[in-house]
Amino acid sequence: MTRPSVYVTHALFEAPRALLAAHCDAQFWPGPGRPSREELQRAVAAADGLVCVLTDRIDEALLAAAPRLRIVANVAVGYDNLDLAAFGRRKIAATNTPGVLDETTADLAWALLLAVARRIVEADALARSGKWLMWDLDQLCGGDVWGKTLGVVGFGRIGRAVARRAKGFGMRVIYSSGHRAPAEIERELGAEYRALDALVAEADFISLHVPLSDATRHMIAAPQFAAMKPTAYLINTARGPVVDEAALIEALAAGRIAGAGLDVYEHEPAIPDGLRRANVVMTPHIGSASIETRTKMAMIAAENIVAFFDGRRPAAILNPEVLA
Ligand code: NAP
Ligand code: GLV
Repeated sequence: MTRPSVYVTHALFEAPRALLAAHCDAQFWPGPGRPSREELQRAVAAADGLVCVLTDRIDEALLAAAPRLRIVANVAVGYDNLDLAAFGRRKIAATNTPGVLDETTADLAWALLLAVARRIVEADALARSGKWLMWDLDQLCGGDVWGKTLGVVGFGRIGRAVARRAKGFGMRVIYSSGHRAPAEIERELGAEYRALDALVAEADFISLHVPLSDATRHMIAAPQFAAMKPTAYLINTARGPVVDEAALIEALAAGRIAGAGLDVYEHEPAIPDGLRRANVVMTPHIGSASIETRTKMAMIAAENIVAFFDGRRPAAILNPEVLA
């Protein structure tokens, strides 16, 4: 039997690479950087399967250049880079990597929250500068975290993992989501439901965990910033376009909010100068970036491909209707 031809837009890690190589004729983008759109179009022309990452846009035009393609495995839980309507029209399966990155991404959200509130980046810069002259009573005072109110927007896998960590800080948790969580989850996490408008006005820390969609694009914009407390912090580890970045810059410049912790940006990898402020802590989209978690994500993508060409249902199928 001929082995499926699979193109992989990244070198991946050893174990998922070996799994793909054992079951498919796999070709890996050797780097450096990412394949250009033209390189990707050329590479998928004869591919039966594709493993891609979240910066690869897989849309109608790309699929049109891939007449044999039957499955795309995204190495990410977010799949706003995949045009699922186009996948449906062409009966191409799409998979993602839910579940394995919840705790790692929640850790990063907390790292940003703590860092911006307690001014860790500024403090580190002073400590290593050789310019720290003396302890002072009002030096680098930030905002308290313990005992405050955490507002989680998007109460799914990662949102709940972020909420669970708030217990250790004696915080109150409120959340807003597409649906209200079951009562036992609310009880377990001590979380109370709020409409988004109420949440942004009440929370001291607002942490975003919704997927990017037409409904969530610019979900946090000028009206939401206007409603926030001047002492509030915004944490975004979801997707950049969930926040109107220009409105965020304006809110920060006007002192309408106290600060922001950001892992994602509206036009990655571009970061506007207006965000380069002392009260903004920034990371370059590393929410799930632990060796263990990124390896698991790549492994799931490889397993999805192997299962599909084995005639089995991939574990993380986004559009099961195309399998029928
Ligand atoms: P999830 O389990 O599907 O949770 C998403 C939650 O968002 C769901 O509870 C859903 O609510 C809610 N939601 C969806 N649309 C909404 C809307 N219009 N208004 C209000 N709530 C809405 O997803 P997850 O695994 O937690 O991941 C969330 C997102 O985080 C991903 O899509 C990805 O973009 C991002 N992410 C980023 C990183 C990073 O590296 N920074 C890492 C991992 C994930 P209902 O279920 O109640 O409808
Ligand atoms: C990362 O951003 C992901 O969606 O997995």
